[in-house]
Order: sequence, then C-alpha cells, then structure tokens
Amino acid sequence: MKPIEIAKDVYWLGVVDWNVRDFHGYSTYQGSTYNSFLIVDEKITLIDAVKKEFADELLESISHIVDPKKIDFVVSNHTEMDHTGGLPRVMHRIGEDKPIYCSKMGQKNLSKHFLQKWNYQPVENAGELSIGKRTLTFLETRMVHWPDSMFTYLKEEKILFSSDGFGQHYAGPERFDDQVGDAIMEHAKKYFANILLLYAPLILKLIEKITEMGLEIDMICPDHGVMWRQDPAKIINAYVGWCDQKPKRKAVIVYDTMWHSTEKMAETIAETFIEEGVPAIPMKLRECHRSDVITEIIDAGAVIVGSPTLNNGLFPTVADFLTYMKGLKPLNKVAAAFGSFGWSGEAVKLINQELEVMKFDVVDPGVRIQYVPNEESLEPCRELARKIAKVLPD
Ligand code: FEO
Repeated sequence: MKPIEIAKDVYWLGVVDWNVRDFHGYSTYQGSTYNSFLIVDEKITLIDAVKKEFADELLESISHIVDPKKIDFVVSNHTEMDHTGGLPRVMHRIGEDKPIYCSKMGQKNLSKHFLQKWNYQPVENAGELSIGKRTLTFLETRMVHWPDSMFTYLKEEKILFSSDGFGQHYAGPERFDDQVGDAIMEHAKKYFANILLLYAPLILKLIEKITEMGLEIDMICPDHGVMWRQDPAKIINAYVGWCDQKPKRKAVIVYDTMWHSTEKMAETIAETFIEEGVPAIPMKLRECHRSDVITEIIDAGAVIVGSPTLNNGLFPTVADFLTYMKGLKPLNKVAAAFGSFGWSGEAVKLINQELEVMKFDVVDPGVRIQYVPNEESLEPCRELARKIAKVLPD
C-alpha cells in the first residue's frame, strides 16, 4: 500500500493482510492490517514493523517517502512477531547499527526472538526522546498485550501510537474510524474480547494513568485496523465499559450436539429466556467460532454451557471452548450446565468443574436428559432459564 500522510510529515505505512483468516486461534474473517508509521524529522523515525512476509512491502512503502537507509531511529512498541517478524529484513536494509528504542522487557524479548546483536536502547516509563522539532514519550503498558508492550506518544501532533491497544482485525479500503462508521466497534470489541480481556483490570488502571497524566489525544494509531481520528474518546470509553464487564440482562447458551438432543435443550433454554425478557443467543460450537462466542459473552450476565457426553467426557468442541474461555478470564457471570447422555453422563459434572474454576456463580447443579428429550423432560430446562432470569439485572 502507498503511505498515507496522517499529519504533517507523519505517515501510515501499514500493510493490509486481506487473506489472514486465523490469528492464533481467533477467526479474522475480514483479515487484518499490520500498521507501521514513519515520522520525518531531523531524526527520521520508524515506529513498529510488520509480519515477516510483508517486510519487502513495508520497505517499498518507506521508499515512497525516503530512502530506507536514511531512517535514524526505530521504535518497537511490542515484540510479538506480527510487528517484528519483518524487522531483520528492515534492519538489514536501513543499517544494523541503527538504535531500536523499546521497553526494558522489549529488549529482553527481542533478543530472545532474534539472534542479531542490535543496538537496543531501552527506555523508561514516561521517558522522552527528541527527534528534532518533535518529542516522543514512551509509556509502559505491560500486558497490552505482552510484558514488553509500550505506547509511544507524539506530543506535538497529539498522536498516541498504541500498538495492540485499541486495535481491530479488520482489512478494508478504509484507514480511519469515520470512514467505516459504527460498524468498526464490533471489530474493536471482538479484538478486545479475544486478545485483551484477561488483562481488563490492568487496562483499566492504564486508562486511569493516562487520564491522570492529562495527555491530549487527537488521534489513536493502533498497529491493527483503522486509526481513531474522529472521536478517540469513543474507543477509550468503550474499553472502560468492556473492562468493567458489568453484566447485562443477556444470556449466551453455548453448546454442541451429537444427535440434536442437547441442541433441543439449548433451544428450549433460549426460548424460555426470551419469554422471560432476557435476550438470549444459542451458539452451536461447530457453527460459531470460539472467538465470536467470547465476543458475545463479554457483556452477557449468564453463560449456559451444554455438551453431550462422549466417551465419558465432553464433546471436543465444548472442551476446546471451555479451555479458551478459561484463559480469557471473563468476570461477573452467572452460569449453569446442561446436556444429554446415553448411559454414563459425565458432561454436566465436568462443565460445572470448569465453570467453578472460572469463578462463575454456578446457580444450579445443571440439567441432564437421557437420550432424546420430550416436552415433559424439557421442563427442567425451562425451570433453569426462569431461575437464572430472576437473578439477572433488569
Ligand atoms: Fe498484534 Fe500482540 O501483537
């Protein structure tokens, strides 16, 4: 892609990965971008690189503005290889001795990813770097998304280069929030739910810290997706809400099924929730990707998990989802389990164990039905939904 000047002498140089459909287990059904930025000042500064396979595209993009050899400084906000995989190729071209500014943890992590003995210049939290007429301020943002993560703030233009923070896996012709409109918020929510949810308490503190510092922000430039120029406060406020995880009157029924019995139970639970005035979404795991399910779950007050018993255990997709959800640590959920079985019927007990490990409020021992449900045997499913509807907020 050709560079785009986002402020005087400040350029977006990203690459668009139209075809990526899986990002370490996250369904990126509309691709992604790896954003890189160039500031042309007395010291020409490159902020972040791209995935390995796009390094030449990034160098070509830089060449539209300056000869890459003229780059003086590199800033690496985050070590994960979607932002550094292209660094060996880039450093080889611009000069292996050029300083790389990164956090202290960034230096450690970069040196464990790459054998090259680069000229690392670790920076302190709130440390500053003059690049001529402009000054960069570095903000340590541990765990947004790795221990090495930091943001870089360009004081004069009031631009926050936020690495993974406020990103979206979205590939499109648009580069800015206002060009996409409200539809971008779903992508941002999905990104938060699948990449950052487990760090929600830390992110809340970080946002408080940035607010206390009184940083004026005219534009937020993440390393994925579109840049927030229309209303940067909108995405910051959305993050505060997602971090809070205040439970809504909403239920997600996540399940899989072998011969439609557990499915019948899921649909009965969902229908009863709806009759009780609770928006409910049944999501069958062989049709709904785990990353879409978790996106629905972050603001739901209730998570009801269903699995048939298969070989004395959980159905594989349900076990997969429970592992995924446990890692992301959603908070403030009421939960219960259900499932059909033939002869042993361990699935409900196994789900309950997982829900308790996740510190969900398991409000019922769960519903088990042998073989095929009928109107009468489905009644406990209705009772379960009514019971949970009573404890959800209005
Ligand atoms: Fe976009 Fe944590 O890397």
